[in-house]
Amino acid sequence: MKQRNIPRHIGIIMDGNGRWAEMRGLPRFEGHKRGVERVREVIEAVTGIGVEALSLYAFSIENWMRPEEEVSVIMELLESTLQREFINFMREGIRFKIIGNRERLPEHIRGLIELAEKETAGNRNLVFQCALSYGGRDEIIRAVRKAMAQRTAPEAVTEEYLAGLLDTAGVPDPDLIIRTSGEQRLSNFLLWQSAYSEFYFTSTLWPDFTKEELLEAVHEYQSRSRRFGRVDSSRNLLAENPFGLPGA
Ligand code: IPE
Ligand code: IPE
Ligand code: MG
Repeated sequence: MKQRNIPRHIGIIMDGNGRWAEMRGLPRFEGHKRGVERVREVIEAVTGIGVEALSLYAFSIENWMRPEEEVSVIMELLESTLQREFINFMREGIRFKIIGNRERLPEHIRGLIELAEKETAGNRNLVFQCALSYGGRDEIIRAVRKAMAQRTAPEAVTEEYLAGLLDTAGVPDPDLIIRTSGEQRLSNFLLWQSAYSEFYFTSTLWPDFTKEELLEAVHEYQSRSRRFGRVDSSRNLLAENPFGLPGA
């Protein structure tokens, strides 16, 4: 792995748990169970190469519309995973935080999350943002409401100002977004922040995703040319020969 050009922030849309289980004739929750087990390996892989922030899409605001049993299994898994991982976060210097609409989360889970956020707030090795009850549009609306509640003057509403009111405030935008399971869409993930992200889509179902594939995604990212609307300086023929002089 080239140590240069490592993405500062990687986002992952962890999709395909249900299909993984269904393919094996298992109930969907078995896929979710297997899915959370992949998280540890991914955390180790990203910390190993010096990524600063990792955002994992665990549960979307639209996922509340799933059957009640599935939602409660996912919530229980989140709770037990957070309880188990907390000690590792402290040991590995990982700052844990949630992005998403907290108001819709069960009270006891919210309490647990807030405690983990408080205890890990000073950790500096990696920011682990868990997108839970998260929707990009909902996040933007909550930010606009905060701006209005602060009676912000219209001309003071800049990109920097609005970004500072999002759940991701202070975290750089994702350089690389990975989605598993073959779907090629954002499903309301980091809408504002993904303006210039690079995408890596794989047909691998999330419970089968490995450290090797994560490194493969980073490797592909390193070969991309990010232009941000500008002319690619490495291929800027005009700059190399501005007057088109022969042999220049
Ligand atoms: C992703 O897996 C996990 C969540 C959305 C909570 P899915 O449950 O969406 O799995 P598929 O897409 O149905 O296979
Ligand atoms: C997106 O997956 C949300 C998460 C991975 C948590 P979904 O499975 O909910 O997305 P759609 O419905 O296929 O777009
Ligand atoms: Mg899905």
